[in-house]
Amino acid sequence: METFFKKGVMNILHKYGPSTVRLILVICLFCSPSNIAHGGDLQYQELPPGEGRKQVLENCTACHSTAIILQNRMPRMQWDQTLTWMQEKQGLWDLGPDLRKTILDYLSTHRGVKKLPSHNPLGHQYSYRPNPL
Ligand code: HEC
Repeated sequence: METFFKKGVMNILHKYGPSTVRLILVICLFCSPSNIAHGGDLQYQELPPGEGRKQVLENCTACHSTAIILQNRMPRMQWDQTLTWMQEKQGLWDLGPDLRKTILDYLSTHRGVKKLPSHNPLGHQYSYRPNPL
């Protein structure tokens, strides 16, 4: 059995070269059960560092993960409306003006919409460069 295994590894080494084998080993490392077990935590660590991150984590991850926040980019006014919608329809508690401002500052800084210098005849705000054609 052992020699069979060794032969197999040598065969792969011979056929694909050491860099491919190394790549396969690295992939195995990332797929290891310990990483899968910690996958839940990782969802909550993706928020970029900055003022207000703690407040967002405290107030915005009780019902859903940060992923739903990170998949959005919008101007501040729309984040404001999202918070109101969270409160009126989804059960988000009252934040008070200071906390709300801190959270809005964070969201619009890190998940805002950057204005692009490119010509934009429709006046839309894109988070990506519009097709020049
Ligand atoms: C009490 C539970 C609760 C809390 C707290 C909460 N949310 Fe939500 N949120 C929801 C639910 C439920 C949905 C899914 C609503 C739907 O799609 O119908 C949602 C959806 C969202 C979406 C997705 C909107 C979209 O259409 O893509 C964003 C963005 C969001 N929440 C941001 C936040 C932010 C920012 C906070 C913190 C200020 C927050 N949420 C706090 C319950 C909550």
